[in-house]
Amino acid sequence: MEIKEFSLSDSLGDIVSLGGKFIDHSYSKEKVQQRLQGKNFHIYFAVENENKVGLCIWFPEGKEAYWWLLCVDASFRRKGIGKVLSQFLEKQIKHAGFSVITAKTHTKRSAMIELFKKLGYTEVGREKGHWGDEREAIFYEKKI
Ligand SMILES: CC(C)(COP(=O)(O)OP(=O)(O)OC[C@H]1O[C@@H](n2cnc3c(N)ncnc32)[C@H](O)[C@@H]1OP(=O)(O)O)[C@@H](O)C(=O)NCCC(=O)NCCS
Repeated sequence: MEIKEFSLSDSLGDIVSLGGKFIDHSYSKEKVQQRLQGKNFHIYFAVENENKVGLCIWFPEGKEAYWWLLCVDASFRRKGIGKVLSQFLEKQIKHAGFSVITAKTHTKRSAMIELFKKLGYTEVGREKGHWGDEREAIFYEKKI
């Protein structure tokens, strides 16, 4: 498995198919483009035998680095890919000169919550209805 950085134009279809399938069915090309518009984003894929099996994306938000997305293809989970991608992302963020990473998930994403714990992220807040629905957001931070 290797990790490669991709441009948005080269990976938009894969972001939508991985993100849409494994995170949120409402992901569309337009939504992803809108979310990343004007941002100095970085898109990394875990690639195994030329297949994109994992994805993460971050971008600067003020003085901090915001980790927007992480997902691993369901048939490749619990093999350490999420952890390796996350550690790669942290290294890149540090290299880019940031010392704080922020991220969020919601209370039903137990695998992601466990991964945040494992990686040493601190929970810094919660908010019900953060996305305008029944989900409760959990906010995380890590100093690197
Ligand atoms: C969260 C996710 C990226 C983890 O990817 P992964 O490649 O399976 O994770 P790893 O194999 O690297 O696991 C690393 C650690 O995370 C935790 N973890 C991962 N999956 C877990 C699960 N299903 N239950 C409990 N802990 C889990 C464990 O601490 C694990 O370490 P261990 O295997 O030594 O116990 C993956 O489950 C996923 O894509 N989920 C759907 C998308 C999603 O929810 N993304 C987050 C959006 S905010």
